[in-house]
Amino acid sequence: MKDELNPIGAEFTQACLRQRLLAINKQWNAILERESNAVARELHDDLGQLLTALSMQISLFKLRHQDDKDMTETANGMLMLTERCMQSICHLIDNLRTGDAEPNVATVLNRLCHIFERRHKLPCALTISGECKAFDRTFATVFFRIIHESLDNVIRHAGPCKVSITCNYASDTGLEVVVSDSGRGFDPHDTAPHQKRSGLSLMDECAFALGGQIEIASSKNIGTALRLRIPPESFG
Ligand SMILES: Nc1ncnc2c1ncn2[C@@H]1O[C@H](COP(=O)(O)OP(=O)(O)OP(=O)(O)O)[C@@H](O)[C@H]1O
Ligand SMILES: [Mg+2]
Repeated sequence: MKDELNPIGAEFTQACLRQRLLAINKQWNAILERESNAVARELHDDLGQLLTALSMQISLFKLRHQDDKDMTETANGMLMLTERCMQSICHLIDNLRTGDAEPNVATVLNRLCHIFERRHKLPCALTISGECKAFDRTFATVFFRIIHESLDNVIRHAGPCKVSITCNYASDTGLEVVVSDSGRGFDPHDTAPHQKRSGLSLMDECAFALGGQIEIASSKNIGTALRLRIPPESFG
């Protein structure tokens, strides 16, 4: 009897899992879009405006030296280079707004490190080894969320410290990503009310949705390591 019901149970679990994944994905897409738009805006406002100012200065310079053939040529060269910088920035902005065409483990982690370093002016050492698996967009989004949340905890709770991410994929063991910090540490088993833990719960749920799991090792004044494991089957 029990055996007969198992397939139904498994199907039900799969359906719940997919539903949860979609819900997380939708929520996270909104956050991701906000992050990307913020970077795009910074690029547009800061660099874009500086380049516009530079190009105006060069045009003025060219006008002042319009009788000098050499100076005019040099100014034209500078204007052309400024224009090319503008075009590169426009491409970057477009990429940020549309996201990566084919996300994989490396592009997602590189992007997270870039956002982290730019925002907090703190280096985040990234080491990637093994095969670089490609993600489908939903998977990539949920993966992004786990690591983002973990880095957010480092900034909010670890205090001044070194941060690193290591990532390895092997076809027999799957993906393993470790986010480590050398900060103040905490007791992962402390369930006191002051420990809000919604971030940690969310990371657990996201890992579960990817068929994986999270382990946290932490020691007072030594640091914290969050280990995410995703089995090879989850990559299809
Ligand atoms: N890297 C870390 N270093 C030190 N303490 C940490 C670290 N990560 C988590 N903690 C501790 O674990 C607690 C629970 O983390 P969790 O992410 O669940 O909640 P939170 O960050 O306090 O709030 P939020 O729900 O907004 O994420 C934190 O309040 C903090 O005390
Ligand atoms: Mg948190």
